[in-house]
Order: sequence, then structure tokens, then C-alpha cells
Amino acid sequence: MSSVTGFYIPPISYFGEGALTEAADYIKAKEFKKAIIVTDPGIAKIGLAAKVTQLLEERKLSVSIYDQTQPNPTTKNVTAGLKTLKKHGSDIVVSIGGGSAHDNAKAIALLATNGGEIGDYEGVNKSKVPALPLVAVNTTAGTASEMTRFTIISNEEKKVKMAIIDNNVTPSVAVNDPSAMYGLPPALTAATGLDALTHCIEAYVSTAASPITDCCALKGVDLIEESLAEAYKNGNDTKARTDMCYAEYLAGMAFNNASLGYVHAIAHQLGGFYHLPHGVCNAVLLPHVQSFNMKCKKANKRLGEIATHLGEGTATAEALIDRLHQFNRDLNMPRNLKVLGVKEEDFDILAQNAMQDACGLTNPIQFGKEEVISIIRQAYEY
Ligand SMILES: NC(=O)c1ccc[n+]([C@@H]2O[C@H](COP(=O)([O-])OP(=O)(O)OC[C@H]3O[C@@H](n4cnc5c(N)ncnc54)[C@H](O)[C@@H]3O)[C@@H](O)[C@H]2O)c1
Ligand SMILES: [Fe+2]
Repeated sequence: MSSVTGFYIPPISYFGEGALTEAADYIKAKEFKKAIIVTDPGIAKIGLAAKVTQLLEERKLSVSIYDQTQPNPTTKNVTAGLKTLKKHGSDIVVSIGGGSAHDNAKAIALLATNGGEIGDYEGVNKSKVPALPLVAVNTTAGTASEMTRFTIISNEEKKVKMAIIDNNVTPSVAVNDPSAMYGLPPALTAATGLDALTHCIEAYVSTAASPITDCCALKGVDLIEESLAEAYKNGNDTKARTDMCYAEYLAGMAFNNASLGYVHAIAHQLGGFYHLPHGVCNAVLLPHVQSFNMKCKKANKRLGEIATHLGEGTATAEALIDRLHQFNRDLNMPRNLKVLGVKEEDFDILAQNAMQDACGLTNPIQFGKEEVISIIRQAYEY
């Protein structure tokens, strides 16, 4: 097996108030002519899609819009967006939103140049040629999809989420402008922020962690500790929102290269099966999966290190798990999987599918199906 590790991030990333205008200037400077905006109904409703349209039209681009992306985007969303792109003859894709809009846009941009169906690209680096250029304007903090080489698309028939991990879907430009996040409601701020925390923790205990991803993960945790509660309380706080932009991007740098673990492997099934929000599933599962990971000596030590970055006085895995439960309470996350509507009779199929999910491969312990069922049960009954 090769001992070489790659490190992948977008070639250009803009941060801070004004980043959106900077990105529009970039698109003009590169002489693109026809942009398709890929977004969702919520973003269209709050006027963000119209704002970006205006910025692009002022720079003489022709703009078409696909704004029907669903949370946990589906193969149908990809097909419909691709149809709009082809009709328009777009030469650049601009995604606006959280993980759902970016993932849909990545899939559309990949199929525009590679052809076929998105299911053909499930797995690692299956595409042949680069996707259409993608400028990803982030509005949640977040999945980090605006900067990763992952796209997660739901297969509605099979009720599973497909993970496409492909260097060719890495956006050309990642945009994190806090002004696009001031309107993100507290519940979504909490859920997406805890998704970023999950990325940091899973990447830090991943078997593929490296010194670079470790730095990113721990700095991400520091910023989340400093700013997530503040962004939740006061969405207009520029510092808290900007910190969370950096935190979720650092978390993305960590997991884009060290991958994830069983929190995501199970959360993907809950999203595919019951259409539950990704960040909420992660937040509920995170302390329970880590309480099983504690049995691995190396992971145990690392979980203790994270505890101190979350303000705990003692560097123990137990202290971290208590802190994660406290975080969930402070941010009004659901207490367990039962209140989320998960059904006991589905535990078996959920565990079976979770074990097929590529995210589990880098978990510090390779669980058997019975252990995965035990984790789900613990998170259900807690
Ligand atoms: N590709 C990756 O690297 C990656 C990583 C983690 C998760 N994901 C995927 O991302 C998806 C979840 O993304 P998400 O958690 O960002 O949520 P989302 O994109 O599904 O958005 C959730 C809701 O928030 C609204 N919203 C977003 N930004 C807003 C804003 N600024 N103001 C008001 N409303 C706003 C949207 O309109 C939508 O209704 C899941 O499908 C998950 O599997 C992808
Ligand atoms: Fe995630």
C-alpha cells in the first residue's frame, strides 16, 4: 500500500464581508459568459439568488437558475438541474446555499462534462475529465461542501445516500461571506455548526489523520468553542459568523483529507431513510459513537485532547462526551433518535447500510453489525 498522502482544497477561497463581490469579479475576469445558479427554494425566498443574479448581470453574464434543490438532494434534482444547464449552454456553475445546493451543483457540473448518471460515479475518483468550473457561495457553517471533493446525493428508490468522492468535483472557488449567513435561523446555525464540530472530531480520531489535518481539526474546534454559541444567540454578530466560516472551512480541510467515521456513516442512513437534517443526526449520534470509540487507546487519548479545546479542565474522553451532551442541550438539539422518529424495526437495515458507507472505513474501530446496532440503540434510548 502507498504511504503517500494527498492534500486537497480548492485553488481559490475568499473569506469575509465582500467575498461575494470578489467572486463575481473573478467570474468576469475569467471571461465566463453564461452562469447557472444552483440553489434551493429557501435561498431564493430570502433574495440571495436574486442578489447574485444582479452581481453577475452587472458584469454582463447571462444567468439561468435552478432553485428546486431539496435538503438531502436527490438524483431527480441532479437531472432537472442538468436539463436547465444544457438548455442555457452554461459555461460556469454558481451554487448558493448549504451542503444540499453545493452537492447538487457538483453533481450537475460533473455530469455536464462526463455524461452518464450520477450513480455511475459513486465511489472514489470515477470521473474522467474535470467538471464544469464551480463557484460555491456558502450560506451555512457548515458542511464545508463549498470546498470538499465530496458530493452526497440521495437515491430515492433505494433510500440511501450515495457518496461520490472525486477530485474533479472540488469547487474552483469557495466563497465564505458572513453577510450571506446573518439570516440563518438559530436552529440551522446550531445543526450546521455541530456538523462542523463532528467533522473536526471524526477527522482527528480518523485512521487517516495527518499532522496537517490535526492542526485544522483542533483549530476548528477552538473556533467553534469560541463562537458557535454566540452565532446561535446573535445571528448578526459579524465576528461569531466569520469565526464559524473559518471553523467549518478548517473542519473541511481536515475531513476532506482524513475522511470521517461512524457518526457520518450512520447519519447518512438516517438522512436517506427518514429525510432527517444531516447536522441534527450528527449532533445526536456524536457523543454515542465516541463513547464506543473510547475503547481504542489511541482514539481515547485524542478524544481527551479535544476535551481541553472545548474548555474542559480534564483531558479525558469521558469529559469530552459530557461536554458534547452539554453542547447539544445548550443548542436545543433533540435528545435522542426516538424523538427524531427513528423506528426500532429499522435498526437492522440502518446498521447494515451504515457498514457499507465509505465514511466508516477510517473510524478508529471497525465495528461489527451488532455493535452498530448497539450504538443506534444507545442514541435512541438516551
Ligand atoms: N459534500 C460534502 O462535503 C458534505 C459534507 C457534509 C454534509 N453534506 C450534505 O449537505 C447536506 C446538508 O447541508 P446543510 O446542513 O448545509 O443544509 P441544507 O443545504 O440542506 O439547507 C437546509 C435549509 O437551510 C436553508 N438555508 C441555508 N442557508 C440559509 C441562510 N443563510 N439563511 C436562511 N436559510 C438558509 C436552506 O434554504 C434549507 O432550507 C446533506 O445532504 C449532507 O449529506 C455534504
Ligand atoms: Fe457532515
